[in-house]
Amino acid sequence: MIREKHPRMIFDILTIFPKLLESPLDEGILRRAISTGKISTNIVNIRDFAYDTHTMTDDRPFGGGEGMVMKPEPLARAVESRKTNSPSGKVILLTPQGRQYTQSVAKELAEESHLILVCGRYEGVDERFRSAYVDVEISIGDYILTGGELAAMVVIDSVTRLLPGVLGCTDSAEKDTFYRNLLKHPQYTRPRIFQDHSVPKELLSGNHGVIEEYRFIASVKRTLERRPEFMKDVVFSDKEKKTLRRHKLFDAVATLQSRAV
Ligand code: ADE
Repeated sequence: MIREKHPRMIFDILTIFPKLLESPLDEGILRRAISTGKISTNIVNIRDFAYDTHTMTDDRPFGGGEGMVMKPEPLARAVESRKTNSPSGKVILLTPQGRQYTQSVAKELAEESHLILVCGRYEGVDERFRSAYVDVEISIGDYILTGGELAAMVVIDSVTRLLPGVLGCTDSAEKDTFYRNLLKHPQYTRPRIFQDHSVPKELLSGNHGVIEEYRFIASVKRTLERRPEFMKDVVFSDKEKKTLRRHKLFDAVATLQSRAV
């Protein structure tokens, strides 16, 4: 196994529940990315930076109200401790109030070399920490988690698989659902017949051109059915436009694309 000298990406994860993050990093592709030195991950316990006798990381909100707020000092010290050797680290706060996380945000983050992920808990973090230390706020969707840890794992997982050399098969990331904004075509494996349903004959033809065309058309149909709004950003080659015409899909695609202009 070839080990990189310098990791392509350092992830620091600041949390008060370090155990929540350990096992996802210890399996599969993330584990391999760590052991080959493609990424390095440090789980930082925010409590280690709370210096009062009760190592308190949260307190009641000024002005009253429900819940607790994460105190600014432990968070600030924890971030500073990770920045000492790497001042350009990007500080990301995981919060339902953040920018919506998408594949294009993952691609932007994959260009960085050091991400410091701050996992919020309780009712939120003190605003003075947020405004002085946080570069980007990210939400992974319009629902409320019990904390930012699972959201941080989503970011780590989706960014890591985009880094060069992380996925075994070189073109896997390029065949992703979001690579061209087309949804992925359906996939089949053995057996050829399952509960009376056969694998489409095109995929059994052994003819590369027939297979490619089948998959392309299946992707377009799936996108039209499930996520028509994606179609406006898809660029089709002249050859693909001809194929769409042959399958009587060109007008449906063109309508969605022109509506977007
Ligand atoms: N923390 C709680 N809910 C969250 C969400 N949807 N995204 C990111 N962080 C969160």
